[in-house]
Amino acid sequence: MSAAEVINIRTEDEPADISSVVQPIARKADSKHLLSMRQLDRDDINDYIEEARAAESIIRNPGRSGINLLPFIVLKAVMRQPSTRTGGSMTTAMEKLGGSAQLISGMSSSSEAKGESLADSWVAFATQADILGIRTAEDDGPEFAAGVIDEAVSRGQLWRRVPVINLGSGKSEHPTQALGDEYTIYKELKFKSIDEFEGKKIAFVGDHERYRAHHSGMLGAAALGMDIIVVESQAAPLPDDLAEELGESIVYRTGDLDEVLGQIDVLNLGRNPDEYSPKRLRDWSLREWHRSKQLARDFEDWIVDYDRLEQMPEGSIEIHPRPRRNELHPSVDVNPKAVDVKQMQNMIPMRMAIIARHMGRPILQSAARL
Ligand code: CP
Repeated sequence: MSAAEVINIRTEDEPADISSVVQPIARKADSKHLLSMRQLDRDDINDYIEEARAAESIIRNPGRSGINLLPFIVLKAVMRQPSTRTGGSMTTAMEKLGGSAQLISGMSSSSEAKGESLADSWVAFATQADILGIRTAEDDGPEFAAGVIDEAVSRGQLWRRVPVINLGSGKSEHPTQALGDEYTIYKELKFKSIDEFEGKKIAFVGDHERYRAHHSGMLGAAALGMDIIVVESQAAPLPDDLAEELGESIVYRTGDLDEVLGQIDVLNLGRNPDEYSPKRLRDWSLREWHRSKQLARDFEDWIVDYDRLEQMPEGSIEIHPRPRRNELHPSVDVNPKAVDVKQMQNMIPMRMAIIARHMGRPILQSAARL
């Protein structure tokens, strides 16, 4: 037996078993990781929405602005890809809960830049924080972090599990964005209960191969019983395995946005995530080149402006996770159907809800005592 097997030293940056860290929330979020929308069912999503409503009522109270729920609790938001909205709203959410928060952007100043182990970096962050938010370019980056942290807990090296919240994992998922989007839909369509999601039509428009917010959004929409319309490019269609998983929740697939605008309750528009395209010309394959050209043409055809919003039914809404590029024309900003700035605001109470629940201190159970 090798020395590595005897003392189970990690020799590569691979967690022992990624599947073991993606546990169903099953209405008990305390100290669990939030890595995928696949962990949540309808009741779980309802719990986050109810909690976000409680958080919003606190931060919109001018005499209050926040709650001293998590004093001395520390969040680190480690963003290994650029972010304006997610990392910043996560740290604001923590501070509104009375805790402290640090945003770490990129890893150029961490020991990883000195060639040290990524796995050890995640364990190091877990010794410094009570909860971690993590964004990575790798599809399973937050799972990897959760795996090495859990392993350190199981060996008795860390004295408690530090929940990992996925703040965007490569091309796979962005669950906190999806939860914030669902909260926005709940509010802006004036729902009284979670049941009202059932049968509402939501169109997702964009690069369905690479846009993580839409993957999580579709999984959440399916859990809530929404009818999903996929507006997609031949160059970047919905992956077959995700289409199969969503099953009958997908009611229609098309490349023609105008064909569906008149029948939807929610338009969820993504941007072209071409940061994943090769940076150097010599790294482009012919397939990537054609894909990029076709996608650029499709995004041009899908530009949503004031007039396109007018084709949508009365009372319907447009959401866009931001940051926007040219796919969302500035003329939408004076159309009340465009609720994407409200959507960004809603991320604060939703991320407060996520932090409070995963720290085991739900606002709904604690607010009366504070
Ligand atoms: N919506 C979103 O993920 O934005 P950032 O990339 O700015 O975090």
